[in-house]
Amino acid sequence: MSGRPILMFDSGVGGLTVLREARVLMPDRRFVYVADDAGFPYGRWEEPALRAHVVSLFGRLIAAHDPEIAVVACNTASTLALSELRAAFPMTPFVGTVPAIKPAAERTRSGLVSVLATPGTVKRQYTRDLIEKWAGRCHVRLVGSDRLAALAETYMRDGFVDEEAVRAEIAPCFVEMDGRRTDIVVLACTHYPFLANRMRKTAPWPVDWLDPAEAIARQALSLAGPRASGPARNGDEPDIAVFTSGRPDFLARRLMQGFGLTVADGA
Ligand code: DGL
Repeated sequence: MSGRPILMFDSGVGGLTVLREARVLMPDRRFVYVADDAGFPYGRWEEPALRAHVVSLFGRLIAAHDPEIAVVACNTASTLALSELRAAFPMTPFVGTVPAIKPAAERTRSGLVSVLATPGTVKRQYTRDLIEKWAGRCHVRLVGSDRLAALAETYMRDGFVDEEAVRAEIAPCFVEMDGRRTDIVVLACTHYPFLANRMRKTAPWPVDWLDPAEAIARQALSLAGPRASGPARNGDEPDIAVFTSGRPDFLARRLMQGFGLTVADGA
């Protein structure tokens, strides 16, 4: 038997950056990856509508997959709906993904940090509260990108990335002030680590790009706890990918297969 799965959720392919770390730490677990492609991009939704959408979607996902834990591998959804999800589904432990502002504030030498996220995440009170609580001594620039999540989707599906667009989207992250320069950019959208190489290449100067995927995977491991003894999983129950549109195209299917996920039909 392979036990209850870990549900990994995002609006698209971004959560795969967390899945790959979670697999390293929990190779014996079964995963259900959910891409809410019908709702993508989350960055542009109004807050009340997105909150209601995510809570109702999780109602269906939990009923269908009975996960041991649920990882919301999406900053845009976590900063908005994590507390509502915990309240609505008290039997399911949730791991959220929120901007890594605390580690950035601890690590910066120049005191200039940028947070690169979707327009939704930069607007959130949750994000502002994190800055006030942990980064009071830093200068934090919030940069909301309209295009990067979609650029990452395209890149992962067909291998193409518009480097000039990446350059333009990340440019506002780079601040010079009183002889100091931004030295850390927080990747506060799970899609962005897929573009990290292009970001490094097009950045005006080198910075640390903070990707929280491993920390999220560790948090998931600590909530999932040690696995009960006995065979962890068998070959009959593969890790699956669920697309809320029910209509993933060939490229999306191929991408999921590349991550060892079988696309569930009619999901
Ligand atoms: N991957 C998501 C995040 O971490 C959001 C992408 C989107 O739907 O706009 O914020």
